[in-house]
Amino acid sequence: MKAQKTVHVCSECGYTSIKWLGRCPECESWDSFEEELRSPEPERKATPVGNNRAEKLGELTLPQYIRATTGMQELDRVLGGGLVSSSVVLLSGEPGIGKSTLLLQISSELGKTRKVLYVSGEESKGQIKIRAERLNINSDSLYLLTEVDIDSVISECERTKAEVIIIDSIQTMSTQHLSSAPGSVTQVRECAMSLISYAKKSGCSVFLVGHVNKEGGISGPKILEHMVDAVLYFEGERTNSYRIIRAIKNRFGSTNEIGVFEMGDKGLREIPNPSEVVMAERPKNTSGSCAGCVMQGTRPIISEIQALVTKSAYATGKRTCDGFDYNRMCLLIAVLEKRMGLRFYENDVYLNVAGGIHLDEPSADLSIAMALISGITDKVIPDSVIAFGEIGLAGEVRAVSHIEYRVKEAVRLGFTKIIIPKKNLQSSIKVPTSVELCGVTNIYEVLVHMLPKQ
Ligand code: TYD
Ligand code: MG
Repeated sequence: MKAQKTVHVCSECGYTSIKWLGRCPECESWDSFEEELRSPEPERKATPVGNNRAEKLGELTLPQYIRATTGMQELDRVLGGGLVSSSVVLLSGEPGIGKSTLLLQISSELGKTRKVLYVSGEESKGQIKIRAERLNINSDSLYLLTEVDIDSVISECERTKAEVIIIDSIQTMSTQHLSSAPGSVTQVRECAMSLISYAKKSGCSVFLVGHVNKEGGISGPKILEHMVDAVLYFEGERTNSYRIIRAIKNRFGSTNEIGVFEMGDKGLREIPNPSEVVMAERPKNTSGSCAGCVMQGTRPIISEIQALVTKSAYATGKRTCDGFDYNRMCLLIAVLEKRMGLRFYENDVYLNVAGGIHLDEPSADLSIAMALISGITDKVIPDSVIAFGEIGLAGEVRAVSHIEYRVKEAVRLGFTKIIIPKKNLQSSIKVPTSVELCGVTNIYEVLVHMLPKQ
């Protein structure tokens, strides 16, 4: 019998080396190598060659995806319209964010039409039962299993003929064929591999819960993200009850969509109109605040941008930024300094996007610039004003996409002055007579519109 051997595996990309290395030559990450004991691989039988034939694309029939609703429209939208049969979805997020709660809640709805098997490697059946009582879940087709051995899990899946399988979490699963510890790169990969091939063979849908590492990535090899059909990130602040689900990868839908939830004493509640929630807490008559709008997939979300500009105690002003790209903020500050002569360099700038929304679209530029101008001049922008547009290095305001959706959402939320790029002013945008649409070509023109009439 061949002896076991020790190898070193990169926890980021799965690169294997005989020696320990400080830096991975494949993905260039530092201090990512973990020692693992590997059993010798069983000898493989030669597969017969020649049975698999290439086919013409035009002659292939279109597969029909069977989608099931999870009972939560916010999650269905992120999944691309519901849970697809034979698909494997990886749900990751920080501990305590609500992954187990969400999956238990959707199991109850899915359990109405399908057999669901919830496998937990972390909690006892009693703990899950207490949570299910709290969430008011009582489904006859929901099976619970507390197991960490993947082969036993798969044989239980076969026995119960479950159509939806939830694995909480993939890092707790292990196979006896490998001697490395549960949660190690090889174990995670092997267990995920077994579940993926079972899902493709049996037609069931699988949810894998994945822990995140200290850098915020999915713990285990990056390869896991390549193997599954969809990767969802569950985000939120511990101090805030709002949670956002974002698709990082989706083979059956768009990756721009987000789902918004609120964690309460009865579990997660959907927030179908996030703009209203974000804007409800907006302070009145405060300088440094401006409303903006970003598209998250097909949905426009209105959020409040706050900029606090204070005299700096040091030679170089401090800048912090939450919810927006730091470098983009520095660029906008530089444009305002150069083109408008505003002296940001002697001030500290703190920028924050309310509600935990991340503005990762250039259309947020204009509202951010306006919040900064309002912050440094201490002039209040009226609550009725909203702005969207991209800003170029010369201070010009450039056109943005999906203008009709954004304007419609702004009108719905009661904004009466909408500042948009002049290029976007078209006759097709219909607004009530009480709403003023202002087209601007550069940031100087914005000044006229952003302040209340004297
Ligand atoms: P959990 O789903 O266990 O998180 P994860 O699986 O991502 O680690 O969520 C646990 C947190 O959610 C915990 O801090 C308590 C809170 N919670 C509520 O606020 N309300 C509820 O109804 C439930 C079930 C949990
Ligand atoms: Mg959990």
